[in-house]
Amino acid sequence: MSAFRVGIAGCGTVGSGVVELLLKNGSEIEKKTGKKIEISFVADPVVERIKKFGISEDKIFKDGLEAIKKKKVDAVVELIGGKTVAKQLAEETLKRGIHLVTANKALLADHGKELFELARENNCVVKFEASVGGGIPVIKVLREGLVGNKIERIYGIINGTANFILSKMTQSGITFDEALREAQANGYAESDPSLDIDGYDSAHKIAVLSSIAFCRWVKTENVYVKGIREITPLDIEFAEEFGYSIKLLAISKLEGDALEVRVHPTMIPKRHILSSVSGVFNACLIYGDFVGEVLLYGKGAGKNPTASAVVSDIVDLASGNLSTFPDCLGKDDKYKIKEPDEFVSSFYLRFSAVDKPGVLAKVSKILGEHNISIKMALQKGISISGAVPIVMTTHPARKKDIHSAVKKIDSLDVITEPTFVCMIEEL
Ligand code: HSE
Repeated sequence: MSAFRVGIAGCGTVGSGVVELLLKNGSEIEKKTGKKIEISFVADPVVERIKKFGISEDKIFKDGLEAIKKKKVDAVVELIGGKTVAKQLAEETLKRGIHLVTANKALLADHGKELFELARENNCVVKFEASVGGGIPVIKVLREGLVGNKIERIYGIINGTANFILSKMTQSGITFDEALREAQANGYAESDPSLDIDGYDSAHKIAVLSSIAFCRWVKTENVYVKGIREITPLDIEFAEEFGYSIKLLAISKLEGDALEVRVHPTMIPKRHILSSVSGVFNACLIYGDFVGEVLLYGKGAGKNPTASAVVSDIVDLASGNLSTFPDCLGKDDKYKIKEPDEFVSSFYLRFSAVDKPGVLAKVSKILGEHNISIKMALQKGISISGAVPIVMTTHPARKKDIHSAVKKIDSLDVITEPTFVCMIEEL
């Protein structure tokens, strides 16, 4: 039996996890699948990262592009990250008719369509299990296990850092800044954590999941994104009182011929199972028309879980599982992307207002004029710099109407700060 030869480009956290896994579990994989995986090269500008594994000198390269010219491989594993060098390597790999495995969600979200087309032209495939949900095999589940279903909705907690911060704020009553510092101290958040907390990492991932689930290329620019910086302990406390917890939720829903794709802080019922997904854990809840609900839960980041996902792609390729979705290509008009203004949801609104007669009446009047029906209202006598929070939840309303009403309310002289708005998902 000839071995399946892989070249690994990038030996940082995930790349070293993949090398370690293949060295440690190579015989386990062979026992289970009958396939032998051989590392033909490892490339990284910092060669010391590779040498520590005892890889022979002739397989060590500084540059992946140079490596693919010199070594014969069946697949290249791109673990460089970013969209410049990684894109160049991905394209060069596919042009040579070599399969590509990548964990690069940003590359896929923005250039997936081109890469898939290039792969098809050159009779090879792109595999990307590690791009979403770390060790959770969500891509495989969507592409294989649930292939018989029409997917209706996906809800994902797919950023561990943001989930860690919100969980800490909920458990300890601390502020966003304090929870972020704790995430950084634990090595979860980057020193520039904006991709995680501003929602763009989740946006890349839900773009990838939506593209597969709905066979319609979804790019980052098609995703409505809002991060978690504005969440205060007060909102978490009020959410609790209304029976909700706050999660950075990635949502993709098909309604008629419109696809709604969004990432934002979302209040979800405390009794729902997603509410107990805490810390750096990830979860994806998928609704298929025949299967109903499927929930996947696990570690969404880190060296070993991500390596586990990368290796499953390598073994798939070695076993001849080249499943792909050629039908996705060129059918971008199949579903239109819904504009955020058209989203319909229940909302949580926190107004900061002076505490005097008639304020609540003024606020409710404006909401009524915009077709917004109040479900619950709560005012507490906590004065924050002379103002009190008035909190409301609404029945389903159009985002556009909420936006106009809040703009008008915020211009009232009794309102002291911009109103905080959060969507609610009853699940
Ligand atoms: N930074 C991401 C997270 C993992 O915190 O979940 C990589 O996508």
